[in-house]
Amino acid sequence: MAAAGGAHWSSRFGFIMAAAGFAVGLGNVWRFPYMTGENGGAAFVLVYLACAFGIGAPILIAEILIGRRGQGSAPTALARVAAQSGQSKRWGWLGAMGLLAAYTIEIVYAVVCGWVLWYLFKAITTGFVGFDSVTANAEFAAVLDDNLGMLFWTLAGLAITGLILYAGVKDGIERAVVILMPLLFLLLAALAIYNYFTPAGAHGHGFTRAITWLFTPDFSKIGFDTVLAAVGQAFFSLSVAMAGMMVYGAYLPKSVSITRSVLIIVTMDTGVALLAGLVVFPVVFHNGMDPAAGVGLIFKTLPVGFAQMPGGHGFSVLFFLMLAVAGITSMVGLIEAVNAWLEDRFGIPRHKSVLLVVGSVAAFSVLSSLSYNVMDHWTLNGRNFNDSLDYFSNQILLPVGGLLIAIFAGWIMRKDATRDELGTSARAYALWHFLIRFVVPPAVLVIFVMGVFG
Ligand code: PFF
Repeated sequence: MAAAGGAHWSSRFGFIMAAAGFAVGLGNVWRFPYMTGENGGAAFVLVYLACAFGIGAPILIAEILIGRRGQGSAPTALARVAAQSGQSKRWGWLGAMGLLAAYTIEIVYAVVCGWVLWYLFKAITTGFVGFDSVTANAEFAAVLDDNLGMLFWTLAGLAITGLILYAGVKDGIERAVVILMPLLFLLLAALAIYNYFTPAGAHGHGFTRAITWLFTPDFSKIGFDTVLAAVGQAFFSLSVAMAGMMVYGAYLPKSVSITRSVLIIVTMDTGVALLAGLVVFPVVFHNGMDPAAGVGLIFKTLPVGFAQMPGGHGFSVLFFLMLAVAGITSMVGLIEAVNAWLEDRFGIPRHKSVLLVVGSVAAFSVLSSLSYNVMDHWTLNGRNFNDSLDYFSNQILLPVGGLLIAIFAGWIMRKDATRDELGTSARAYALWHFLIRFVVPPAVLVIFVMGVFG
């Protein structure tokens, strides 16, 4: 039995960089800061940490474990592992749900990655020199209105992703991430250090204010909405229930510890999110801007900050370069989830399946682009195309998928199978098994029900 194409990572480092590359994405640098901003800062950060380690990590462990045991893309692996435990192969449908989540998310994600590449281009050519909030808003509005421009940059991002995937698991994904991920960490750290050394301005020392704001929780601000937002963010950020981690697990050699790897991946993902906070918020506070600016924080607020800071041109280039790296390594994981399935289910060779997935995502992404302008009014239940996909995947597919994965690993799979695959100490196994059986399912269920009906 071999994983899709029989491929494997060549080292633990390669796997961890690939999985961290999948996890660390726009969710960390773009979404985490604005979610934190909208949800009151440190209180949200605290709840987020609990959700990432208490709910996200156990599910990730389950996913990688199932992938490695089943040696295939998500539907194949789940069906095989279920059969091994004497259960119905129909569990494969749970994997199909993950594929659907990855595919729909990718359609929206590819367009946002397009904006990032476009902003990288703008940063290189203009450095946002002379930008104020009026020009920054107008610039972003112009981007959303320019369909050809959006299509061009979306295709550019998809083409880079396609090239990486085309070259294969070891020669493409692994080779790219072992260079790109350390580069991303270096860039982020350099930008945070720059902020630290920036002298205080009229609005105080941005870095110090950002630290206080991110790390001094006001417990009275933690409400059910905060928890809901934090779990959603943890699923999004850790790439939970999206079939991708399962297939990355299928490429993982048996000798590597899954629990230890997942702890490293979750720590890295959380670390990058916090570091991104220390890159974004000091600029926001230094310039007296609003931390709760929402989705536009990165594209509308930051350029104004770049324009006003010394070395802002260079900072903006490095910032969007870092964001582009984060976005592309995540697109690689989202697309590989579907790609691996085409390979192992239909025997389509990689170079054809990559073209098929990337090409069809590109076609759908046109609809996603259009829903920022001319198709904005084509709605279903009051949501346009993008919002519908986003709602369907993030509010429905991811939580339901996470819940079912937890139930599958905790209650359906035989205990000796999970214990054998994890191979950790008895204590670590007992903790994981307890969390995946008794903590994750009720927590995710309550959150899902309240999110949809509450
Ligand atoms: N985890 C990645 C990120 O945080 O950007 C990739 C990703 C996962 C994107 C799930 C979107 C998503 F819904």
